Amino acid sequence: MSALASLRERRDPAFDPTLTAFVRFAERRFGLAAGRWNALAARKRLNDLMARGAERGETASDFVARLEQSTEDSPLALAAAEVLPNGETSFFRDLDQLEAVARVDVPAIAERVGRDRPVRILSAGCSTGEEVYSLAMLLFDASFVRWGAPVEIVGVDLRAEAVEQARSGVYPISDLRRVSHAPVGWERRFFRAMPGAELTRARPFLRQLCSFAVGDLLRPATLARLGRFDVVLCRNVLIHFEPGAAQTALQSLRGLLAPMGRLVLSHAEAALNRPFFGEAIG
Ligand SMILES: C[S@@+](CC[C@H](N)C(=O)[O-])C[C@H]1O[C@@H](n2cnc3c(N)ncnc32)[C@H](O)[C@@H]1O
Repeated sequence: MSALASLRERRDPAFDPTLTAFVRFAERRFGLAAGRWNALAARKRLNDLMARGAERGETASDFVARLEQSTEDSPLALAAAEVLPNGETSFFRDLDQLEAVARVDVPAIAERVGRDRPVRILSAGCSTGEEVYSLAMLLFDASFVRWGAPVEIVGVDLRAEAVEQARSGVYPISDLRRVSHAPVGWERRFFRAMPGAELTRARPFLRQLCSFAVGDLLRPATLARLGRFDVVLCRNVLIHFEPGAAQTALQSLRGLLAPMGRLVLSHAEAALNRPFFGEAIG
């Protein structure tokens, strides 16, 4: 650490060496660019982990030592994975790109592959599933699914808790109300309010199209069982990575493409994919 950074840390009233060690560990392990984490969420998760350790008599410095010895898949690494990456997402985010996939790419791919197999789409870094369900809704809206074309949309994310929520298809009604650009009447058509709660759930016909898995873009072996995809969407994920990790993730993503497959990055991330620029829509 530079002397200036160290001075800043000591002056910062929120500075906490255990939190710093926890965050540094997670940045290294998950290839996250420095400082791109949610301090409150990290503090809360760290408190939970330390409280559990304290029950066994673990001190703060024991905790840091355990952290430093943690392997990639240790419970501590997995706990850090739940809280540190930025999971911000929303329904119909960057609608123009999703529309292009639903109305142009998917029908063209379906025509090419025929009815022998489904068109397969991956949302890499799907967070709590909004991107996956948005695409499924747009495919219904474009009448692509109604006329029986088989399609599979798979969401994958590092965070098991986000994947669990995505699988449930349950969202606060307020999240749906925040959306400004979307197909007319989509809330009632695709979701059903849950009794006695401010929650709503994706209808079964929408959920049937979508599946979710835990996987790490930095470790291609964790993605291998998902198979190959005609379209791989990876939006607003690589911008949170340090450059080396972004290139590793891009390599994993290219490895998931079926022949003639299309990689779709967000507008902000397309420049990272320069050697393969012709493939990216974003
Ligand atoms: C900002 S969200 C983007 C969600 C969605 N793609 C969108 O554009 O709205 C980034 C997601 O990438 C996930 N992520 C970060 N690193 C990952 C990794 N190595 N493997 C898989 N997912 C990762 C995070 O957990 C988070 O849910």
